Amino acid sequence: MTRRPIGIIVNGVTGRMGYRQHLVRSLLAIREQGGVPLPDGTRIWPEPILVGRNEAKLREIAERHGLTEWTTDLSAALARDDVEIYFDAQVTQQREKAIRQAIEAGKHVYTEKPLAEGTEAALELARAAATAEVRTGVVQDKLFLPGLRKLKRLIDGGFFGRILSVRGEFGYWVFEGDWQPAQRPSWNYRSADGGGIVVDMFPHWHYVLEELFGPVKTVSAHIATHIPERVDESGRTYPATADDAAYGTFELAGGVVAQLNSSWCVRVNRDELVEFQVDGVEGSAVAGLRNCRIQHRAATPKPVWNPDLPVTENFRAQWSEVPDNEEFDNGFKVQWESFLRHVVADEPFRWDFLAGARGVQLAELGLLSAREGRRIEIPELNR
Ligand SMILES: NC(=O)c1ccc[n+]([C@@H]2O[C@H](COP(=O)([O-])OP(=O)(O)OC[C@H]3O[C@@H](n4cnc5c(N)ncnc54)[C@H](O)[C@@H]3O)[C@@H](O)[C@H]2O)c1
Repeated sequence: MTRRPIGIIVNGVTGRMGYRQHLVRSLLAIREQGGVPLPDGTRIWPEPILVGRNEAKLREIAERHGLTEWTTDLSAALARDDVEIYFDAQVTQQREKAIRQAIEAGKHVYTEKPLAEGTEAALELARAAATAEVRTGVVQDKLFLPGLRKLKRLIDGGFFGRILSVRGEFGYWVFEGDWQPAQRPSWNYRSADGGGIVVDMFPHWHYVLEELFGPVKTVSAHIATHIPERVDESGRTYPATADDAAYGTFELAGGVVAQLNSSWCVRVNRDELVEFQVDGVEGSAVAGLRNCRIQHRAATPKPVWNPDLPVTENFRAQWSEVPDNEEFDNGFKVQWESFLRHVVADEPFRWDFLAGARGVQLAELGLLSAREGRRIEIPELNR
């Protein structure tokens, strides 16, 4: 077995996503399984170089996982010949500058979403990468979730007939930080630091809608900052300036209407933290992160509206579970494997910077819609 080592800068590895999903659950998991196999028997072998601001934290992570490479000097890491990929999981605001530097150093770039804070900046990164002829990728992890994979299988198999609508509920209660610590970083709640649920979630909704149901043509969004004051990691009270809930309606090419609620101020009364109900003429489905339930036209009961009578039917029990029929791996890891094969073996990979820029565009126009109180058409984005 030949190993093909590939140096990967992991910047922002001390953060929630950088550490758990990208280092541990993706790159180290790939090493544990013996690398990414190529058709000729070669195995791509990630060699992570941990990059961040805090040397002690980097050293601690490296030692915990038997890694030897870490640095607080991004320029020095980018100057190394054995580094081929720059990966970014920093706070969103730091991303653009670092990615630009990586492109200038001739590295391929893979990054967490959102690619940048604004559409123009995201497009400029896409252009710069194209000019430098480096390969690019943006995390679109939700596409690889078992629940959404099953939903895609239903769509591809024609289960729904004509699809009419998509209703999505995403969210959970994020503690304010006063009497119980918040479970998300405080920068998420400050606009000036790149926070806000629209910037965070609309890039996800963009690729989910586009890949499953069709291109997004218009957006209208209502946003709110329901909790005006929160307490940060060091116990200080701060004004929450960013939107913490977004109520969006999206019209898709082909006429599908999608309504997606995103909120950090909602208590969960669902089976999963995100759920999408899809209604089609022939059948309906409710897909979450892992599970997917369906009700076919032929098995649809006929409820009659009568508020004078107590509920006699168990509506939830009238749905059936879609079986796995395959093994689902961690979504972040599956996409990493695909990007590595793209870089090393030239396999196609469509979730590039231009795709990432479209997600940023939806967030930007969603915020514009909310500010101006109107529905916004989404112009096609080209490099
Ligand atoms: N794909 C997903 O499902 C998903 C989920 C959550 C977050 N994200 C994205 O991942 C990125 C990181 O989010 P997170 O939740 O891991 O955040 P986090 O606060 O836990 O981590 C942020 C990282 O950036 C580093 N950093 C660099 N410069 C910084 C600065 N000036 N201030 C603060 N931190 C700085 C931190 O040290 C840390 O390593 C964000 O861009 C976010 O949009 C993606």
